Amino acid sequence: MDRRHEMNKIVDMRSDTLTRPTEKMRRAIYEAEVGDDVLGEDPTVNRLEAMAAERTGKEAAVLVTSGTMSNLVAILAHTHPGESMIVDHNAHVHLNECGSAAAFGGVHTYAVDLDEDCRPSLKNIRAAIRKANVHFPETTLICLENTHNLQGGVCTNVERTKAVCNMAHENGCKVHIDGPRIFNAAMALGVDVAQLAADADSVTFCLSKGLGAPVGSILNGPKDFIQVARRTRKALGGGMRQAGIIAAAGIVALEEAEKTVARDNALAKHFAQALLKEDLIELAPPIPVETNLIWCRPKHCPLPIAEVPARLKEHGVLLNASPIHNKIRLAVYNAIMEEDLPIVLEAFRHLPRS
Ligand SMILES: Cc1ncc(COP(=O)(O)O)c(C=O)c1O
Repeated sequence: MDRRHEMNKIVDMRSDTLTRPTEKMRRAIYEAEVGDDVLGEDPTVNRLEAMAAERTGKEAAVLVTSGTMSNLVAILAHTHPGESMIVDHNAHVHLNECGSAAAFGGVHTYAVDLDEDCRPSLKNIRAAIRKANVHFPETTLICLENTHNLQGGVCTNVERTKAVCNMAHENGCKVHIDGPRIFNAAMALGVDVAQLAADADSVTFCLSKGLGAPVGSILNGPKDFIQVARRTRKALGGGMRQAGIIAAAGIVALEEAEKTVARDNALAKHFAQALLKEDLIELAPPIPVETNLIWCRPKHCPLPIAEVPARLKEHGVLLNASPIHNKIRLAVYNAIMEEDLPIVLEAFRHLPRS
């Protein structure tokens, strides 16, 4: 009998979006003071936005429904139709947000390679910036992702971010950081989120995902930019009225952010090391795990990657595959425990080996 049957448990590592609100969050939601946030009268939203602005070192912040909406609002507020933004080939905003910059903003997206270390490439971004010319969509925005989801949750440090931002600004471009997991990055790098975002024009992070709130992302930036973002959020249907119900859980998530991400980062590292030690996986990219995501391939496994999740599921482990990138992802979040590791190891040991 395998351990899963002994423990009668499914280990669900498909995504860190599977977090459920904690007791403390549920209590905060119940007790939340609310008002009409579209009129700026929800005290709980106002408090959360002030906290977020302070944590990211920006003048102002606006609560939106999701990471996707946050990125779209930022792009719309930074650009005009017919302009171009630079992303990397594996950026979430490029691959996984329904082409919304093009669909709703008329914004052209130009994708470049990251550096070999999976961080933004100054050289590639510089070469891709296109100035006013009768033929070109002019580059006005550069979008960075920190941590980088598809690149194994790797972090971009303060120095690299600063270098990209300086170069962007010298060329008349703004920089937006798509940072749903930027608290994980800050923890891994031993810096504050504000330091990581200091040189960027805007930064977004998710209250849901690893931080554990049920809903919400926050876009942060200068006051005048956030004013435009508020109007854009409203235009997209994202004015949420008594959103203090959501914000209350977000405040708890932010208060506990450091504790949460420190645990998740450490546990993900521990899982990865145990899987590597038994030669059950290879990391993809081959960079030691830094934060809460483990992207990998089962080692010596002849199965097409798309079939791996179903095999692991037979042994009590759920995870996602990205066949287009030929890899699988294990996400650590607040429901994943150290005690789950033996179940995960056992499931990988059952995969066929060639
Ligand atoms: C890097 C990155 N950006 C943006 C998003 C979008 O967030 P949401 O699912 O809240 O729309 C995700 C979602 O996983 C993500 O990983």
